[in-house]
Amino acid sequence: MAAPDLTQAEYWNGEAGRRWARHQATFDAVFTPLTERLFGRADLQSGDIVLDIGCGAGATTLRAAEAVGPTGRVTAADVSAPLLAVTAERVAARPAGGAAIDLVEADAQTHAFAPGTFDRVISRFGIMFFDDSLAAFANLLGALREGGRLAVLCWRTLPENAWIAHPLDLVQSLVPEPAPTPPDAPGPFRFAAAERLADILAAAGFRDIAFAAVDEALMLGRSETGDARAAAEEAATFSLDLGPASRLVRDQAPEIRAQAFARVQHAFEARAQDGVVRLDAACWLVTATR
Ligand SMILES: C[S@@+](CC[C@H](N)C(=O)[O-])C[C@H]1O[C@@H](n2cnc3c(N)ncnc32)[C@H](O)[C@@H]1O
Repeated sequence: MAAPDLTQAEYWNGEAGRRWARHQATFDAVFTPLTERLFGRADLQSGDIVLDIGCGAGATTLRAAEAVGPTGRVTAADVSAPLLAVTAERVAARPAGGAAIDLVEADAQTHAFAPGTFDRVISRFGIMFFDDSLAAFANLLGALREGGRLAVLCWRTLPENAWIAHPLDLVQSLVPEPAPTPPDAPGPFRFAAAERLADILAAAGFRDIAFAAVDEALMLGRSETGDARAAAEEAATFSLDLGPASRLVRDQAPEIRAQAFARVQHAFEARAQDGVVRLDAACWLVTATR
């Protein structure tokens, strides 16, 4: 979550964007079951023209390019230069002959996308951070062709997302209480209440707006040898270095960080099964049509 004095563009071009960029492979592995659900619903066809908004380090861009094939085209758009740089490297490393991929450093709210062009706009967790959501969705609507479709993932409530809530609960008593954020401020849970996003999409001009609940267990840690402690260590590292709970402990003294880590690792070890730590995630898979 951005500090109140930063714009989202500043936040994602700063340490947060660089952290996501460095750990792209870990985020992609953890989010795999959710990515599958997004693509199951996005219904990309051979030859489609796709906009991946808030593409981050490009996992969904590459996946969309595979889905639309050599006659298709994917535009990967993001405000974050460090994340787009990773996408560019991954795009350059693809075998030749796939779909064309265009990378644009672009703000969803204001970028002049070619009007009426895209068959699909997709996003994995890139739509909750717009400073002005109505402006962004109206702009994205204008980029879709008539009948084109939006298919995006966003988080449901914090308590439904144990993969974040559980480590947060464990460390909360060790750290100062974070300043409350207004419910409609940019952040992961901004659209946990489906009506809020439904209203914005309708006001932007979308129709056939639908929300499907997606529930998946995310694998936060795994040990090749089936060792619960090693799996818990990997899961605690993900939670406290990368996941949303990390913001609570990141700037704390080393001894507080060590205590937090020990607590989370201990709790995760007790949950490990066959050397794997899994915690529940809950999302909305939102579709809408121009
Ligand atoms: C939580 S990350 C998700 C990244 C990627 N979709 C993924 O699943 O790994 C949110 C992304 O939204 C991007 N973003 C935030 N505000 C944006 C805006 N106004 N326009 C375009 N991208 C934006 C951020 O830079 C970041 O890459």
